[in-house]
Amino acid sequence: MACFFRRKIAAKLAETLQHSEDAFIPALTAVPVFKKQPTADFKLSLGTLRIDGILPSSGDIQLQTENLAAQLKPDSVVEDISAGDASIHFKINRSLLAEKLLEPFGKGEHYEFGLNSKLFDSLKRGTTLVEFSSPNIAKRFHAGHLRSTIIGNFIANLKQSLGNNVIRMNYLGDWGMQFGLLGAGFNKFGCMEKLKRNSLQHLFEVYVQANKEAEHSEDLKQAAKDFFRQLEQHESQAVSLWQQFRDITVKEYKHMYKRLGIHFDVYSGESFHQDQAQEVVQELQSQGLLKTSEKGTGVIDLSPNGDMSNICTLLRSDGTTLYITRDIAAAISRKEEYCFDEMIYVTDTSQENHFNQLFQILLKMGNSWAGRCRHVSFGLVQGMRTRTGKVVFLEDVLDEAQARMLHNMNQSHTTKELENPEDTAEKVAISALIVQDFKGPLQSGYKFDWARTLQAQGDTGVFLQYTHARLCSLMRRNEGVETATFNPSCLCEQTSRTILQHLLRYDEVLYKSHQDLEPKHLVNFLLKLW
Ligand code: ARG
Repeated sequence: MACFFRRKIAAKLAETLQHSEDAFIPALTAVPVFKKQPTADFKLSLGTLRIDGILPSSGDIQLQTENLAAQLKPDSVVEDISAGDASIHFKINRSLLAEKLLEPFGKGEHYEFGLNSKLFDSLKRGTTLVEFSSPNIAKRFHAGHLRSTIIGNFIANLKQSLGNNVIRMNYLGDWGMQFGLLGAGFNKFGCMEKLKRNSLQHLFEVYVQANKEAEHSEDLKQAAKDFFRQLEQHESQAVSLWQQFRDITVKEYKHMYKRLGIHFDVYSGESFHQDQAQEVVQELQSQGLLKTSEKGTGVIDLSPNGDMSNICTLLRSDGTTLYITRDIAAAISRKEEYCFDEMIYVTDTSQENHFNQLFQILLKMGNSWAGRCRHVSFGLVQGMRTRTGKVVFLEDVLDEAQARMLHNMNQSHTTKELENPEDTAEKVAISALIVQDFKGPLQSGYKFDWARTLQAQGDTGVFLQYTHARLCSLMRRNEGVETATFNPSCLCEQTSRTILQHLLRYDEVLYKSHQDLEPKHLVNFLLKLW
């Protein structure tokens, strides 16, 4: 495994420079394979050692490099050590490289790529709460929610595979003034039958119609206000209708997330924290942090000089709470309930300011753990449309992806008879959506293009799945072959060496993905692997 070699080199350095082995791990990188086979396998950056204070940062760096290289002696594992440009190059014994990297296969074990190595110890943080997806009841599930869903799931999977206890939470938009309009609208033109049959669609239609009508109907506006007030006062009829909306929505979403291979441990939502939000307001008041603005709203001053140049509103003039107030309450109650060591929120960049303010307020209130809360934001995806128009629901995206993929598969002459082509098409299409989304940096948005995403050739999820399927079939066909006959020294021709060299980078790639929570490192590693 890659970490075996990294460790060996680090041990050598530790002995020579009288430092702890761990200190060298981050400065050691596996040399990436570009067009031609690199001459070395690992590279040690002297610049990094200087920055980390392991080597004196004065004097000629090249001289320092050459001196150190001369002091390090090759052995049976590290065959060759040479000085490069402010870096030292290490070449591993080829046969041992193959043997160690492929060792788990020989033993029929899962390839863990050294996840248990010390390289990852520092990444274990205990309990991580990842909040992602978080759609709003009766509103559109837009491309941003889809991105949050797959990115959040990636982060949760990554954290889990690195040994953390992970809580996956969906925080539904299930509270706020709009539920007044939805409730009053439903009482006027809703239909229970339709709600049961075509839930999300019907709720959405009712909401759109209610919005439209409320523009010129004072009666409906009043009814909406009344309904929301009844909700806030926990009146049973209103609550029971609202509960039905919520239950049906969660059921539908669960079904959709299953198609994506995603699950949540907790379906929380804004509604859970409406009462606590009022307590937060009282707490802020007693801490002297809540001010009343000229408009009569309750605000908190976040400006560095306390001159009210940067304020955040927490309370409307009628005493009702806002999105951010509920988020403050939610964060505090999550900390109490789950005792998380870190919490990650995943939404698009438009909520950056919201989360900045949230963390600042939590800190001001004396919650030092807010320093371990993080907002992972991503850019917008434009133009995700289905044949019939705009994407409204997650189901639309999944159906469209599946239908298009099925169509492509039927056009292709190479596709073998499949047991369940619809299922295969869906799985491949979903991988394609994910890979396409993960290729670039999260911060940059992109223009969505079905044809490019579902292409069978090139750097796409379709090809990645195809390669995976071929490898699986190769394994199936060779099942039962005596693994004791595996001779790694046979893997010495150029292609095998290139693959082995690339595999050396895996633990580093995971490390990087963990540091910046960017899936691109992993996806590009996989795309290069085939
Ligand atoms: N429901 C929100 C939206 O669709 C996202 C919620 C994000 N999470 C949070 N804790 N505020 O915009």
